[in-house]
Amino acid sequence: MAKARSEYVCQNCGSKSPKWIGHCPACNEWNTYVEEIIQREDKRSLSLKKTVSTPLKVTDITASKEKRILSGMHEFNRILGGGIVPGSTILIGGEPGIGKSTLVLQLTLLMTDRTSLYVSGEESAEQIKLRAERIGKLHEKCYILTETYLDTILDHISNLTPEFIVIDSIQTLYTDIIDSSPGSVSQIRECASQLLRYAKEHHIPVVLIGHITKEGHIAGPKVLEHIVDTVLQFEGDDQHIYRLIRSVKNRYGSTADLGIFEMTSTGLREVTNPSEILLSNWDEQLSGVAIASTLDGIRPFLIEVQALVSSSVYATPQRSSTGFDLRRLSMLLAVLEKRAGFRLTAKDVFLNIAGGLKIYDPAIDLAVIISILSSNFDLPVDSKTCFAAEVGLSGEIRPVSRIEQRIGEAEKLGFNKIFVSKYMNRKITDLSRFKIGIEFVGKVEDVFKRLFDK
Ligand code: TYD
Ligand code: MG
Repeated sequence: MAKARSEYVCQNCGSKSPKWIGHCPACNEWNTYVEEIIQREDKRSLSLKKTVSTPLKVTDITASKEKRILSGMHEFNRILGGGIVPGSTILIGGEPGIGKSTLVLQLTLLMTDRTSLYVSGEESAEQIKLRAERIGKLHEKCYILTETYLDTILDHISNLTPEFIVIDSIQTLYTDIIDSSPGSVSQIRECASQLLRYAKEHHIPVVLIGHITKEGHIAGPKVLEHIVDTVLQFEGDDQHIYRLIRSVKNRYGSTADLGIFEMTSTGLREVTNPSEILLSNWDEQLSGVAIASTLDGIRPFLIEVQALVSSSVYATPQRSSTGFDLRRLSMLLAVLEKRAGFRLTAKDVFLNIAGGLKIYDPAIDLAVIISILSSNFDLPVDSKTCFAAEVGLSGEIRPVSRIEQRIGEAEKLGFNKIFVSKYMNRKITDLSRFKIGIEFVGKVEDVFKRLFDK
């Protein structure tokens, strides 16, 4: 028997070294090298498979237009670019408890016209059954397998010939070819490539669930993200009921889209009109609330920004923010102070984005500023008014991308006034079709005057 060779593999980025090193030169992480033994005599590995191939003219290649599989979850189809492509591998990453297992179980339960196999290395069959009962819609074409040994899983797959496979999670699988423990870089890579090969050869979609590291990346080598066709990131925090699915990589569609789900007692529910749930319908007008027309990727929605400004009891006032970058909040406060002459130095400022979402879109700036001023002066903003503009360091109101979509979404939801930058290029943006009142503003003081000086 050939001598087993061992090498040291960085558990963060997957780079290798013949001897142990403390600092990874590739990804700059410390103490990530772990010894992994590789049995070379078994050549079942993907990379070693020889195939006879010939170069083809691009015009001669006949690509049958793949018919996508519709998953029964509209939001899921949409983020994939219109359904699941047969033979593709989808990797879903997300924090523990976010609902990855719930999502994939729900997908298999909704796929009533196909035999599907849900392989779980984390939960027992009874636990999955209980969860499936909560979700409902049990049917006979959904098979559950609790196994972590890849070769057994592949045997079951070839006997059962499922048309949809889910692996929960890729970190729990192991194969004999690699001697290192499950979850190590080589195991993950090997198991994923074998499943990927099966998916491509048999034209079956495979969904892999991946754990994420504390930094928020999918655990295991980056190579996992390279070899799969689609990487979806499941986000949201367990304090809130909303969950977002973002596509980080997609070989068959755009990555600019976003799917929104709500976690209910009977599984995940799709949220087809996010604005309606993200906006509260207050009976009375409250101060400190402003609505921003924001975009995530290409999807417009309206979101409520809440601020509370109160006199500070400490020498250093408190500034706290949920769902919005704290440094950006400090910057906007400095702009208010210096450029617009609003005195907020001795005030505590608390800011919150409703619904537990995190917004990175700069177009929310104006709504942030207005909510702060509204709270500070205790003047409510009309509930049918919204904002879409960035605020610059000189206090100028700057134009933002895709303004037509933002205005369109505000109009659709029955708002009657939207504040935008007067510096936007009105030659290329056609705003004539909108019935909503569009207020063009150039400075923070202008907005303040138009809103509150009656
Ligand atoms: P789970 O899918 O197990 O998360 P992950 O696989 O990402 O670790 O989701 C677990 C959470 O979802 C758990 O805290 C309970 C909640 N949940 C519901 O609120 N309603 C439901 O119907 C289900 C199945 C789970
Ligand atoms: Mg799980």
